[in-house]
Amino acid sequence: MNEKQRGEILKKHKPQHLFPAEPNLGGWYTEEEIDATTKAIRDSMDWRVGFGFIVDEIIEFEQAFAAYCGTEFAISLSTASVGLDLAMHCLNLEAEDEVICPAINFKASPLAVLGQGAKLVFCEIDPRTFNCDPADVEQRITPRTRAIFPVHMNGLSAPMDDLLDIAERHPHPIHGPLKVIGDAARACGGGHKGVKIGKKGWMNVFSFHTMKLMTTLGEGGMITTDDAELAKRLRGIRQWGGESGTWGSSYKTTKVQAAVGSVQLRRLDEMITQRVKRANERLQLLEGIPELILPYQPLDSDHTFYLFTLLVPPEWAGDKRDKLCQILKEEYLVGTMVANPPVWESQPYIHSQTREQIETLPVSVETARRLFCISLHPLMTEGENAYVAAAVWTAVERVRKM
Ligand SMILES: Cc1ncc(COP(=O)(O)O)c(C=O)c1O
Repeated sequence: MNEKQRGEILKKHKPQHLFPAEPNLGGWYTEEEIDATTKAIRDSMDWRVGFGFIVDEIIEFEQAFAAYCGTEFAISLSTASVGLDLAMHCLNLEAEDEVICPAINFKASPLAVLGQGAKLVFCEIDPRTFNCDPADVEQRITPRTRAIFPVHMNGLSAPMDDLLDIAERHPHPIHGPLKVIGDAARACGGGHKGVKIGKKGWMNVFSFHTMKLMTTLGEGGMITTDDAELAKRLRGIRQWGGESGTWGSSYKTTKVQAAVGSVQLRRLDEMITQRVKRANERLQLLEGIPELILPYQPLDSDHTFYLFTLLVPPEWAGDKRDKLCQILKEEYLVGTMVANPPVWESQPYIHSQTREQIETLPVSVETARRLFCISLHPLMTEGENAYVAAAVWTAVERVRKM
């Protein structure tokens, strides 16, 4: 993109409002979701019927989701955070037990470990993928390790095959092979070696929060698994123990959310295809900026680009990266965010529980000073996407001269 082209694009496609870094609606809704919502309400209006508990709409949504991921079971829940808590609960963790989680992470998974009273052990990430680094995970395993808890970061599959292999090779002395549990909140619809995220590992936990790739009216979650015992236990726990003979509470989704979820799931590939199209166009438009390392898309993975994550060079870490983001936001209305800083930086309780580990995580600390994510949404027009790229070229040139 030469200077003249950039100037024209910046003038022609200048937005009226900020493009938010993490859009407040991840996909989009159509008349189909509205019809499904209206129908679910109408079907519930008879006082002898109501909205029910685990009704047909919920069962149908779960079956369709399991089929999509290629798993035997899918268990819907009120949020992904609840799912992550239940994942840790189902490990029956004891006080000395350890769970390994990437340090560059959203706070929900680390909190789920701490919530069960276990020890949270952070691992490093691979700065190309922002996913956990298997070699580093392996080094942090002790006889007390019970599980590896990767996040499928920003829409790209975690290295599940490597992690499962490590889990087999380092069994816990009593519980056997370590469990591998994926936080797939940002990665619905992604894949690895032709297999959908959700299939590999003991279980994977998805989010349908308003910002996610598919959404169920603002909140929602799902766990996928092939383990029949686990599925039965989770179904019990989400509804006051159910038939499963376990402790329980209420973590159910609703009829209306499930009805909308089934429509969003049918439309998921379309929404992701459009998102990936914009991401690929942007990759081409940004090619050639010497300072930027563009998002890495391993050949064997289907990246969903939940976030479009770049790296600045080491000498731009921190202040210069922040300056670049400030220019993009204030002068070009292009939102950016750091997703994510080391998780202890955004959550004081996590910090209080892990502060002695920080100096063992230099890659995570340094990468977080270099990464930033630029606004991307499937409904951005080609022109708006070109505008974002032109803004990045121009802002980088300005920071280069500082
Ligand atoms: C990686 C990750 N894990 C977990 C969550 C929590 O999901 P939920 O809001 O459905 O509880 C989110 C987002 O909110 C997330 O981005």
